[in-house]
Amino acid sequence: MKVVVIQGPNLNMLGIREQQVYGPMKLEQIHAQMKDFAGQNGLEIEFFQSNLEGEIVDKLQECYGDANGIIINPAAYTHTSIAIRDAIAAVNLPTIEVHISNIYRREEFRQKSMIAPVCASSLVGFGPFGYHLAMVGMLQILNEIQAMQEAQKAKA
Ligand code: DQA
Repeated sequence: MKVVVIQGPNLNMLGIREQQVYGPMKLEQIHAQMKDFAGQNGLEIEFFQSNLEGEIVDKLQECYGDANGIIINPAAYTHTSIAIRDAIAAVNLPTIEVHISNIYRREEFRQKSMIAPVCASSLVGFGPFGYHLAMVGMLQILNEIQAMQEAQKAKA
């Protein structure tokens, strides 16, 4: 089972940018923790970060036929990108949205997520720990899908 983690614009600046909002942890440290969890639970994991909307759309499309689940923080594109929302809907894979900050407690323009309606779940405001929670949630979703597929096979 393969999970692809997609990180949007400016998340490569974690640990430097607005530490009072996003904390001191760097993206590489977050990814190292996710990789450990994946390894402990028999999941393959791939990480992708881009500052460009089209590259994120391309990566989402690549997930079709290649990944079993997606964890995504589209960062500022969360609030604007119909293209990213459509790509998530198109590939139709279980997708979990993560935001380090609680976007619903911030400026009004951040309080709307274009992608939430096409995601299985959204985790906001847990800081970098939200990515770990997303891994736990994704494992649960993938196990449920696998159990359902096995039950269907046994019936056939
Ligand atoms: C963010 C919230 C967005 O509003 C912001 O543009 C980001 C990070 C978060 O993780 O809290 O870049 O997605």
